[in-house]
Amino acid sequence: MKTMIQTQQLSKTFTLHNQGGIQLPILDKVNLTVEAGECVVLHGASGTGKSTLLRTLYANYLPSSGSILVHHKNTITDLATATSNQLLEVRRHVIGYVSQFLRVIPRVSTLDIVMQPLKERGVSNVDAQNQAKAMLKRLNVPEHLWSLAPGTFSGGEQQRVNIARSFIVDYPILLLDEPTASLDQKNADIVVKMIKEAQQKGAAIVGIFHDANTRNAVADRFFTMHGD
Ligand SMILES: Nc1ncnc2c1ncn2[C@@H]1O[C@H](COP(=O)(O)OP(=O)(O)OP(=O)(O)O)[C@@H](O)[C@H]1O
Ligand SMILES: [Mg+2]
Repeated sequence: MKTMIQTQQLSKTFTLHNQGGIQLPILDKVNLTVEAGECVVLHGASGTGKSTLLRTLYANYLPSSGSILVHHKNTITDLATATSNQLLEVRRHVIGYVSQFLRVIPRVSTLDIVMQPLKERGVSNVDAQNQAKAMLKRLNVPEHLWSLAPGTFSGGEQQRVNIARSFIVDYPILLLDEPTASLDQKNADIVVKMIKEAQQKGAAIVGIFHDANTRNAVADRFFTMHGD
């Protein structure tokens, strides 16, 4: 078994500076290890810090203490102490993240958004475009939307653009925050299939799934979040 991502005593406390400096301890000494080809589903009531953990694993949040060890190409990077260049490298090559909401860049077309991870890896324009089209087609994003910026898209359409972009390259680690939340059953089933394919190719996956059917379909193991 090959460990891909491992947290050691990972803690995160938010400080609300504009509300009297109140401290909110959300993650408390979390030890989570995910192997290649394994899908771990975060489980726990609303507010127990599931999304916070995923965002911290993607280095959107700096941990208060503890480490996040990411294994890649025989090196281990601790995201708690990594430089910004190391973080960019890890995001480009190692970790894909589907946030619940797409961060839309104004005026960038759907096709360009989905192609971007391939372009960053030096894939030619034509090849990247063809792969992006195939991915958008698979996820049933209507063709007349491909040249438009997704800002005006429906929640489910934006979510599928987000998924297309995160599955277009084979990230060794995938973080999925409710990727099927705004999808109808047919599209949710497609995403489940894509998750299983990624897993078979060896991706280490950490996911949050509201829906019990989806959760049970993809989970190898549950990781329970307790809150405080
Ligand atoms: N940036 C932040 N600043 C302050 N508090 C935050 C911040 N992000 C999250 N929190 C708090 O951390 C707690 C956990 O939030 P989080 O979004 O991780 O929960 P969750 O388990 O994903 O819940 P849900 O199932 O509802 O999505 C919440 O009480 C939230 O208010
Ligand atoms: Mg959440």
